[in-house]
Amino acid sequence: LTAAAAAVALTVSAGAALAQCDDGEMVIKFSHVTNADKHPKGIAAALFAERVNTEMNGVACMEVYPNTTLYNDDQVLEAMLNGDVQFAAPSLSKFEKYTKVFRIFDLPFLFEDIAAVDAFQVSEAGEAMKQSMARRGLLGLEFWHNGMKQLSANKPLLVPEDAQGLKFRVQTSDVLVAQMEALGASPQPMAFSEVYGALQTGVVDGQENTWSNIYGQKFFEVQDGTTETNHGALDYLVVTSVEWWEGLDAGVRDQIATILREVTVDRNAAVDQVDTEARQAILDAGGVIRELTPEQRQAWVDAMKPVWAKFEADIGAENIEAAQSFNK
Ligand code: LMR
Repeated sequence: LTAAAAAVALTVSAGAALAQCDDGEMVIKFSHVTNADKHPKGIAAALFAERVNTEMNGVACMEVYPNTTLYNDDQVLEAMLNGDVQFAAPSLSKFEKYTKVFRIFDLPFLFEDIAAVDAFQVSEAGEAMKQSMARRGLLGLEFWHNGMKQLSANKPLLVPEDAQGLKFRVQTSDVLVAQMEALGASPQPMAFSEVYGALQTGVVDGQENTWSNIYGQKFFEVQDGTTETNHGALDYLVVTSVEWWEGLDAGVRDQIATILREVTVDRNAAVDQVDTEARQAILDAGGVIRELTPEQRQAWVDAMKPVWAKFEADIGAENIEAAQSFNK
């Protein structure tokens, strides 16, 4: 391959991922940070764009930028307020600069599974959270699921003492910082795109994430193993800018909202399957997964759960109670 031919090949493959927008179509950018396939958010964003581009052809054209190719999660909300991007779906841990209502989703061992997270989100309290940043210019449209978080490090983690003194990358969330401190570990907030390198070079010793993220970013390749703790939830809010959204023609806005709703229902229903497949893919690729005995798991609960008290005033005891009622 000559350099010129390689350049052409690169352009073609990059172009294939993006829609070909026609003159006169409104260009809508959706920026996110995960891989595009074998991932709940990657698949949902691609399906959203595919449907907009088919069903709204001639009117709107959606371009999806996965894998932090456009913005990381810190940058994307600023860019949205500046009108440079119209959609993103950061995890609920990433909104602290705008609202504290999502802190409830980071409390360790509060939600037993994603079904409980879903039940809380569709409750009145959950629905109201979508509007919580409207005054700051951001509107939540739908919750998208990912899965429960697991814990990995450069050594086996079976009891909480194993985590003592280790550095763990966390998302930019005060609850997650407190959770790692409760283990006697050192939390290091860091952008998602930097985690693999930080694990590889030993800048951090471990991290917490879902099976699809551990698989998609290949974290398992640079960790001793992953412990199946299911200690917390990782979920998303699809957000847009209030100004952009309200400036749309009502018909266009309704059509986008309807497509997004249908994609949400469809992909949220499939999330357990994507999660299970990612877990299996880690094993197939030679990654190590450690399961806990009930006694070992209880020790992690005992170590992490005191974090709730620290945030109870912010979150509201009634919300914590409501959330618990959705566990089976
Ligand atoms: C993370 O930063 O670990 C996650 O929020 C990434 C994601 O979007 O799933």
